[in-house]
Amino acid sequence: MLSNQPDGGKRSSLHGHWSSRMAFILAVTGSAVGLGNIWKFPYIAGQNGGGAFVLVYLVCVIVIGMPVMMSEILIGRRGRRNPVATMKLLGEEEGSSSKWGWVGGMGVIAGIFILSYYSVIAGWTLAYVVKSATGTFAGASPEAVGAAFDSFVGDWRLIALCHTIFMGLTVFVVARGVERGLEQAVRFMVPALLLLMLVLLGYSISTGYFGQGVAFMFTPDFERLTWGSVLAALGQAFFTLSIGMGAVMAYGAYLPEETSITGASAAVVTADTGIAILAGLAIFPLVFANGLTPADGPGLVFNTLPLAFGQMAGGVFFSTIFFVLLSFAAWTSAIGLMEPAVAWIVERFNKTRAQACVGVGLLIWILGFGSVLSFNVLADTTFLAGTIFDNVDYLTSNIMLPLGGLLITIFAGWVMCRNSTSDELGNSGGLFRSWRMLARFVAPIGILLVLINAVL
Ligand code: PHE
Repeated sequence: MLSNQPDGGKRSSLHGHWSSRMAFILAVTGSAVGLGNIWKFPYIAGQNGGGAFVLVYLVCVIVIGMPVMMSEILIGRRGRRNPVATMKLLGEEEGSSSKWGWVGGMGVIAGIFILSYYSVIAGWTLAYVVKSATGTFAGASPEAVGAAFDSFVGDWRLIALCHTIFMGLTVFVVARGVERGLEQAVRFMVPALLLLMLVLLGYSISTGYFGQGVAFMFTPDFERLTWGSVLAALGQAFFTLSIGMGAVMAYGAYLPEETSITGASAAVVTADTGIAILAGLAIFPLVFANGLTPADGPGLVFNTLPLAFGQMAGGVFFSTIFFVLLSFAAWTSAIGLMEPAVAWIVERFNKTRAQACVGVGLLIWILGFGSVLSFNVLADTTFLAGTIFDNVDYLTSNIMLPLGGLLITIFAGWVMCRNSTSDELGNSGGLFRSWRMLARFVAPIGILLVLINAVL
């Protein structure tokens, strides 16, 4: 079983290693913290009625998200290859089947589809850097900010240009490779973003509507909770933590042997959830203070935060910095979305990183036009979940990621033998047993239950 593992069972990765434990935590945090926290969480929570949704989301993060993340990292580090090859290899090694590689394959595809719309929204944040810096929002009314957003997304050429620039930036960093590319981009971004969120929070408190915002977010009204919104909460937990598609698995492949997977996962989950809650607390008071609706959809952040900045002293400065940071956060997440596909192509087809990046980047760029057009030309072309953008988002976040997570926990909890997993997690008694309980029973059963009830 260990015959293809030199050095007493420990492999090393083709793509290099993180320079330290901190570098790994930063990279996974960089992947987790992104548009999911600041753009998506508030609008999904708003669309699903607030309180009860937020509660279900938090439960999903803790009892499903955390064990899935640990499973992904441990699988990644044990296999030390791209997610497809890792699942295939471990499937054979653990006496099951090489067909487990398909789980990695689904992750590669999910990453490509998610990035196709992620890049479009990230392009909006780039444009908002320019709009902020040129004073578009200084003292603007809610109507003016809303109109600026509508006319912006209504112009498909403009948002296609922004999408193109963002994809270019992503391809550039991913092509440079793990160490040089990823680590540097993350180091200062998360703390800086946290700081600016606190500034926004301060402003939100000063509007006098803070209590209303808090009540909306934390007073659960279970009457309004449908299986559909439970699935949305589960999907959001997966999306925001970057799990279920092999991104964290790919990062785990570069993780040094001695790093604690449990500690790293806990740090990432805490930071990610904290930033999402902070974003909600900053945004909902603004929604109520300005007579907007929480269920406004994907434009919510772009209609609320510029308003707040527009009223603030030094607003042009803060607003510009905020959208720069949000673009950075999106950038470091986009890198994680591309990594599984790129690592797979490099290993499978013997291409250079640069070649793989350009190929994958082009494919994603083209697919992105489906979402570019969803906000203008094809806004009225709806089917199943809505526009093309809505469908790609629903399929990936609500179906593919939970399904990936389900299979990953089944693999880590049932297919891998106890010794393999305890070896990776460092057999820490109670902690290990809790993980195993969650990975074997709670997470898979929970995911299945929600998927079955919501989809069928
Ligand atoms: N977690 C990222 C965000 O919240 C999105 C993402 C999903 C990144 C999956 C990588 C993998 O923005």
